[in-house]
Amino acid sequence: MNRSRISGLGFYVPSNVVTNHDLAQRIDTTDEWIQERTGVQERHYYTPGEDTVANMAAKASRIAIERAGLQPSDIDFIVFATLSPDYFFPGSGVLLQRELGINGSGIGALDIRNQCSGFIYGLSIGDQFIRTGMYKNVLVVGSEIHSSGLEFSDRGRHVTVIFGDGAGAAVLSRTDKEGQGILTTHLHADGEHAEQLAVIAPSSNFPDRKMGSENFENGDAYPVMNGRYVFKFAVSKFPEVIREALAATGLTEADIDLFIPHQANLRISEAVRQELNLPEEKVYNNIMKYGNTTAASIPIALTEAWEQGKVKEGDLVCLAAFGSGFTWASALIRW
Ligand code: ACO
Repeated sequence: MNRSRISGLGFYVPSNVVTNHDLAQRIDTTDEWIQERTGVQERHYYTPGEDTVANMAAKASRIAIERAGLQPSDIDFIVFATLSPDYFFPGSGVLLQRELGINGSGIGALDIRNQCSGFIYGLSIGDQFIRTGMYKNVLVVGSEIHSSGLEFSDRGRHVTVIFGDGAGAAVLSRTDKEGQGILTTHLHADGEHAEQLAVIAPSSNFPDRKMGSENFENGDAYPVMNGRYVFKFAVSKFPEVIREALAATGLTEADIDLFIPHQANLRISEAVRQELNLPEEKVYNNIMKYGNTTAASIPIALTEAWEQGKVKEGDLVCLAAFGSGFTWASALIRW
C-alpha cells in the first residue's frame, strides 16, 4: 500500500526581530505580562516590499525540496495553508507555484483556509493523494504575515503580542517502506464558534467589498479573539484529538517520542503536555522565538526540531493543532 512520508522540511522567517520590549514602545504592555501569559519573548515581522506570504513560502519550500533530494519540477501538487493570503483572489498557491518557477508544468495548487490547523489539514490532503496513487510528491506549506493586520492599540494588545510572521514547508513523498510515514490524520471543526477568533473584514459582506475608516474604528478589520474561551476549548480539544489518533493506531501516549503542538501559547502547550503525561523533553516548543505563526507554526517547529536532531528514524512524532473555526486536528508520523 502507498504511504506518504515527510522527505524534506524547511522554514523561513523574515529578518526583522521584534522583542517584547520593542512592542512595549508601541503599545501599553510589558515583557513580563507577555511572557507570563503566552511564553513569547520575540517574533519576526515582515519587511514591506520585501517579504510576501508567497515568497516566504517559496524560500521555505526550496529548502524542503532540496532536502528531499528533489527539484521543484518533481512536485506534483501544492497545498497552501494561510489565513493571510497575498490577494483576496487568486490564492497564494498559484503565486508559490510561479515563485518556484514551475507554473509551466500546470500542476494543481490548492489553497486551504483552516487557520492554526491548516498545516495538518494540508498534510492529510497530501497524504490522501499519495495513498490513492494519484501523486508522488506533494508540497504542503503554511505561510503567514500577521504583522500587517494586527491592531497596535490597547484594544488589540491581547492578540497583537501573540502573533508573528513566517513560513514552513514539508515535501510529502511516496514510500512503500512498511510502517513508515504518516500513520493517521484526524480533522475536526465546529463552526458554532466561528466568531470567537476571526477577522470580519474585508469580506464579501461589505458593500462594493470596500472598507472604510469605520471598519478600523469598530475593529472589524482586526482579529478579534475571545482569549479565555479559546484557551478553554484548546486545552480540551488538543488531548482529545491526540487520543483519537493514538486509539486509531493502537498506540499510547507513552509511545510518543516527540510531540509538536501548534504554537498557540506556551501555557496551552504546557497544559496539554501535563494532561498527556509527557516529559518536557518530548515536547518541542519555539513560540518563545517566533510567536504564534498560525499555519506556519507546526512546519517551522518540526523543521527546527529535525535540524536539532530531535527527530530520528523510527521515532513516533505527534502533531496537533487547534484554532479559529474552531478547527482542530492531529497526525501521527513514524519517521
Ligand atoms: N499587556 C498588558 N496587559 C494586557 C495585555 C497586554 N498585551 N492584554 C490584555 N491585558 C490586560 C487586560 O486589559 C486586562 O486588564 P484588566 O484586568 O485591568 O481588565 C488583563 O490584562 C487581563 O486580560 P484578559 O484578556 O482577560 O487576559 P487573559 O488573562 O485572558 O490573557 C490571553 C489573554 C493571553 C490571550 C489568554 O486569554 C490566552 O492565553 N488565551 C488563549 C488564546 C490563545 O492563546 N490564542 C492563540 C491564538 S489562537 C490559536 O492559535 C489557537
